[in-house]
Amino acid sequence: MPDRPYVIDEMISAKAIAARVEALAKEITRAFRGTDKLVVVGLLRGSFVFIADLVREIDLPVEVDFLEASSYGDAMQSSREVRILKDLRGEISGRDVLVVEDIVDTGFTLSHVVNLLRSRVPKRLEVCALLDKPSRREVAIKATWTGFEIPDEFVVGYGIDFAQRNRNLPYIGAVHFTGDGA
Ligand code: IMP
Repeated sequence: MPDRPYVIDEMISAKAIAARVEALAKEITRAFRGTDKLVVVGLLRGSFVFIADLVREIDLPVEVDFLEASSYGDAMQSSREVRILKDLRGEISGRDVLVVEDIVDTGFTLSHVVNLLRSRVPKRLEVCALLDKPSRREVAIKATWTGFEIPDEFVVGYGIDFAQRNRNLPYIGAVHFTGDGA
């Protein structure tokens, strides 16, 4: 419930994120070397800051596209039923594709999206997730590249929200409720 007072405790600094993004982009550049074009698919909305930083460090020809899947809505619980709210604009059949996700939590969203995109028969499909909460996993899926493994905490910042708030924080922080009932 977003109206309960909360504080945000920094978990990953802006500096640490920048260093990790640079390292991830180097690995991605190496892995896709020789591609005519890499289609970078950002999952809206949480990945918009990450994808903006990541593509600027990838030294390959890239195309950027976006897909929006329903996730938490305005709550803190994952919905098991994943719906596609906005599909890609471009074709990915026969293309090199990198899916960029903010957080892999239960894994329902990513596995649904990966299955959907694989059904379109890309040449190659890999996943880069900024954050992974392995202790929460319910569907066996792992990103090819992960920025940081984090504990079971609800996080915000660097594009990630709590009921549409706090996306503009430059760092990633954990939400901790304060006051009565915290
Ligand atoms: P999953 O389907 O449970 O893996 O959920 C993935 C999506 O839930 C992510 O892309 C986020 O949008 C959202 N999510 C998961 N954990 C958090 C969190 O700690 N803060 C904000 N959003 C989260």
